[in-house]
Amino acid sequence: MSVVSLLAELTDVGASRAGGYDRLAWTSADADCRTWFVAQASSRGLEVETDRNGNLWAWLNPSLPGTALVVGSHLDSVPRGGAFDGPLGVASAFAALDALGSVSDFVPGRPIAIVAFSDEEGARFGVACAGSRLLTGALQPDAFRALTDVDGITTAEAMSAAGQSPEHVGLDAERLARIGEFIELHVEQGHLASSAGVDGLTSDAPLGLATQIWPHGRWRVDLVGQQNHAGTTRLADRRDPMLDLARVILEVRIAAKSHGILATVGKIRVSPGAVNAIPGSVSAWIDARGSDETLVRRAMAEIGRDAALESWTPATPFDPAFVAELGTSLGGTLPLLPSGAGHDAGVLALAGIPTAMILVRNPSGISHAPEEYAEDADCERGVVALAAAIRSRAA
Ligand code: GLV
Ligand code: MN
Ligand code: MN
Repeated sequence: MSVVSLLAELTDVGASRAGGYDRLAWTSADADCRTWFVAQASSRGLEVETDRNGNLWAWLNPSLPGTALVVGSHLDSVPRGGAFDGPLGVASAFAALDALGSVSDFVPGRPIAIVAFSDEEGARFGVACAGSRLLTGALQPDAFRALTDVDGITTAEAMSAAGQSPEHVGLDAERLARIGEFIELHVEQGHLASSAGVDGLTSDAPLGLATQIWPHGRWRVDLVGQQNHAGTTRLADRRDPMLDLARVILEVRIAAKSHGILATVGKIRVSPGAVNAIPGSVSAWIDARGSDETLVRRAMAEIGRDAALESWTPATPFDPAFVAELGTSLGGTLPLLPSGAGHDAGVLALAGIPTAMILVRNPSGISHAPEEYAEDADCERGVVALAAAIRSRAA
């Protein structure tokens, strides 16, 4: 089946009236994506399982000797996210196996697995790549279970409601040991390539390979004031945390600019959130990333408020030898790009697994938004490359 047809099956899942997709972790849209995954795997005779951290696996020849070549990505999205960030990598993996199935001389010499990692975006509970971090032990079970969404629902409650037991989440050493190599195909997510002074994905280069993922942190700032009446409280008597928030947002922007990093305040929680009440408290989340960890930390040190670190991902270079070998097997011409976006591939690389990413051109240069885009022909090119990669690593 073509990757375009596979993605078309997800068109209605979590589609937001306002455009884009709401497929946050452990919601009904996420469950529908999971049902789709299981149906795709089962229809191809793959052995499907959900691991203790909620990650989905579809195995081809699981009993062959040796470690597995794993391909895939994630199915969840940010609020009003695009159609490609995540699902393109999973759908391409199924399409690549289909393509190889019709190649008579391809006989897998090792197990192959397609994975859909759970809660990659961290859009609901705050910690990105929760499924892969739990798997590798980078996220502790108790810390994970204590995370809450904006409605105060814990990850444990959300998982239970979705029929997945939260009691056994955590390091899965046995499964980790089965992963020999991981290749994640992903839509390209911006114009970092040109600002980093390297070749981007141009009209001559619809595909690329990622070399590294930038260091990335998420912080939370809690600002407290006095909830009061908007129509009766004199300006001089107010303790309005919104004004402190405005200051923080400007400080974040100024610090990012002066240190040459990217920093964003993209989520706030206002309590009580009434148009006629001065808020009693405000929480804001800061996402900061850059090519250099020191610059990110220096910029964050300039924020005049205590910011609690909620997650930190160090700079993650992909194994240069593995990336080079993959590049050679794909014709030796793919441009090499750094990724400002985080990925499960980075989590696996940090756990010592040889990992690479194939990037598919996104002419909109926009991601985490409905305008995220990839041409059908480029998606098909991605599948051809992924199939060639599987063939060269797993024959
Ligand atoms: C995930 O896509 C991230 O980079 O935040
Ligand atoms: Mn992604
Ligand atoms: Mn994303």
